[in-house]
Amino acid sequence: MPGKRIAVIGAGVSGLGAIKICLEEGLEPTCFEGTNDIGGLWRYQVRGDYEWQGKYYKSATSNTSKEMTTYRDYPSPDRFPNYLHNSRIMEYLRMYAQHFDLTKHIRFLSKVHSVRKRSDFSCTDVLVETTGKQESYVFDGIMVCSGLYTEPILPLQNFPGINRFKGQYIHSCEYRSPEKFQGKKIIVVGIGNSGADLAIELSHVASQTILNKFYPTFLINRWAENKLNARFNHDVYGLLPKHRLLSHQATCGDDLPNHIISGRALIKSDVREFTETSAIFGDGTEEDLDVVIFATGYTFSFPFLENNATVLDSQHSMFKFVFPPQLEKPTLAFIGILQPVGATIPTSELQSRWAMRVFKGSNKLPSVRGMTADIRRKRKRFGKEFLNNPRKTCRVQYVEYMDEIVSEIGAKPNLPSIFLWDPKLAIEIFFGPCTPYQYRLQGPGKWAGARRAILTRRERIIKPLRSRTLICDQPPSSVPFWLKSACAALLFVLTLVIIKG
Ligand SMILES: Cc1cc2nc3c(=O)[nH]c(=O)nc-3n(C[C@H](O)[C@H](O)[C@H](O)COP(=O)(O)OP(=O)(O)OC[C@H]3O[C@@H](n4cnc5c(N)ncnc54)[C@H](O)[C@@H]3O)c2cc1C
Ligand SMILES: NC(=O)c1ccc[n+]([C@@H]2O[C@H](COP(=O)([O-])OP(=O)(O)OC[C@H]3O[C@@H](n4cnc5c(N)ncnc54)[C@H](OP(=O)(O)O)[C@@H]3O)[C@@H](O)[C@H]2O)c1
Repeated sequence: MPGKRIAVIGAGVSGLGAIKICLEEGLEPTCFEGTNDIGGLWRYQVRGDYEWQGKYYKSATSNTSKEMTTYRDYPSPDRFPNYLHNSRIMEYLRMYAQHFDLTKHIRFLSKVHSVRKRSDFSCTDVLVETTGKQESYVFDGIMVCSGLYTEPILPLQNFPGINRFKGQYIHSCEYRSPEKFQGKKIIVVGIGNSGADLAIELSHVASQTILNKFYPTFLINRWAENKLNARFNHDVYGLLPKHRLLSHQATCGDDLPNHIISGRALIKSDVREFTETSAIFGDGTEEDLDVVIFATGYTFSFPFLENNATVLDSQHSMFKFVFPPQLEKPTLAFIGILQPVGATIPTSELQSRWAMRVFKGSNKLPSVRGMTADIRRKRKRFGKEFLNNPRKTCRVQYVEYMDEIVSEIGAKPNLPSIFLWDPKLAIEIFFGPCTPYQYRLQGPGKWAGARRAILTRRERIIKPLRSRTLICDQPPSSVPFWLKSACAALLFVLTLVIIKG
């Protein structure tokens, strides 16, 4: 139904994508952003900035590559490096907002206080506080894009003695840069990506950095584990996790082994307790300390929903991480409230496309029973696939989840048919990485530039590496393209036969 009014809460990467998709689907978005700028978490902030809510440290660089960390119709410029510093991601987001003229739909310094459905469920009242004044609005649909990492977890109760510790303790979200930690003895508790990044950075300035856990995860278990162990033996370095690779959050800290081998970083077992001046570990050893950094992650909440159990239950159950199943009408969607084993930008953008189509009535949701059964089934599977960790209930495998949502929309690329009319493209899709553009090749939301974006991916990756011109004497590849294509086609057919059989 054209002209439906949609409220988008938050102008981070999820909110920007939601505004853009709203416009494409012919809906009228109004985005409320509590701060004075776009970008959400990616915007580096220091205390004293308006409504300080920064979670990024000065050096934070994405661990998802630029080709994967893009909206599905807006590749990163080829001049950008392959892994982007937070300032570069902000540059990309500003270019995106400007290109699609999104900023005029955003009301900055406007914090959403409450979201209440009308008794006839026809629309929703939204109360917004803008520079001290409260204003109310009525919307046909709500997109909640307020973020997954809203509240730091500081599990002091799990660390006996922390209250008598006379040094300093902080959460990783308060860390900005290493200068003031010069010469200190520091322990980083919890080794997710924040813990690994901080330990590496602090090892340059601290007199000693200690880590007390490590959990890496990556691609296909056996293959990736072998590859990783070929680089350095995780067991020897004290970094071998207790689980298989794919069953937990990926921790990527390429420099960590160098810091361990040079003794600047020490890996220790769990902290048993803190004394006034030290930490005692599970193995009985003790280390003097000046600073404890809890890199123990984040949790999320939606205070504007006022804990309304008729909207969202205590487990935040959502059908495919988007729709609360109990609503009488699907007028509320959550975007970006999941942890894909991959990048957030394309995932939340695809969720927005599906949500808009449900708002418009172009897509229908199953019955409440059907949705609840799906949620239950997924939770059971989650327990088997990932470590059954109550802190990580929003994890999904990237490709599988993207395929699932794109199938809802009816835009899943049909590989056999692409193979018939465009073998070059099919080969790139089949053998190449699962870039976001391939989800805009066909069906609703089809983008004319998708094919080109896929085929020029390599050029964008290589360009920033070629910062000086080298004269190359090597002859071009002697294998002709037709032979490569024929081999690829044969491999493709064999794979299909194996899968079907
Ligand atoms: C340290 C760190 C590094 C990360 N690195 C990567 C990475 O390399 N690659 C990757 O894909 N992901 C990474 N992530 C995940 C990251 O969370 C997502 O990439 C992305 O920032 C999520 O965007 P979002 O828009 O969903 O939420 P956010 O970025 O949190 O944005 C939410 C926005 O909503 C606004 N808001 C909240 N409540 C209200 C309200 N009541 N009223 C109005 N406005 C409101 C906030 O002000 C904010 O602007 C990282 C996360 C962290 C913490
Ligand atoms: N460079 C980058 O791109 C970058 C940098 C930082 C963060 N990130 C992303 O940002 C998100 C948040 O990362 P994060 O590292 O801040 O959080 P995280 O991934 O949730 O990691 C938190 C770590 O703390 C541990 N922990 C939590 N509670 C604990 C307790 N009571 N006792 C001991 N250990 C405890 C966790 O162990 P369990 O696993 O057992 O819960 C985990 O190892 C992730 O998606 C991450 O990929 C990316």
